[in-house]
Amino acid sequence: MAEDLFIQGNSKAEKYETLLPQLQALIAGEADCVANLGNLAAGLKETFGFFWVGFYWVKNDELVLGPFQGSVACTRIAKGRGVCGTAWEQKSIQLVPDVELFPGHIACSSLSKSEIVIPILHGENVVGVLDVDSDELNDFDETDAKYLSIICQWISAYTF
Ligand code: SME
Repeated sequence: MAEDLFIQGNSKAEKYETLLPQLQALIAGEADCVANLGNLAAGLKETFGFFWVGFYWVKNDELVLGPFQGSVACTRIAKGRGVCGTAWEQKSIQLVPDVELFPGHIACSSLSKSEIVIPILHGENVVGVLDVDSDELNDFDETDAKYLSIICQWISAYTF
């Protein structure tokens, strides 16, 4: 079965509006967490051309690299470290227009210029994060935060 995405619209919001129902349908038919996280990362990267899209999952009090699309990345991040560890510790979205200005930013690639990290909550606990990097400065805004948060809500019930 073909799994092509059909993206319409010019604005970022319009693209998310056409992408999200297709991603939801794609993961609804599959119970495996890794398979679904892989397709979510691929769908986001394919649609928006982001530099890196992926998941880190909390394992033994560290964030460990999960399914992703993009270049090789650091595998483990401590709580409170970097943008991802900060999103985990503070249980809040980190919207970083210029990664060089974020204290403690972990540079997996020098090509990454801006970043957004969404914590994935299961009840009160952060179980993982969705990390999206761009090779352009100031590439993320509240529209990304809104739609990426919806995706994170879908996957909040998954456990590794
Ligand atoms: N920049 C992240 C590390 C993960 S990579 O971007 C894939 C951070 O500071 O937490």
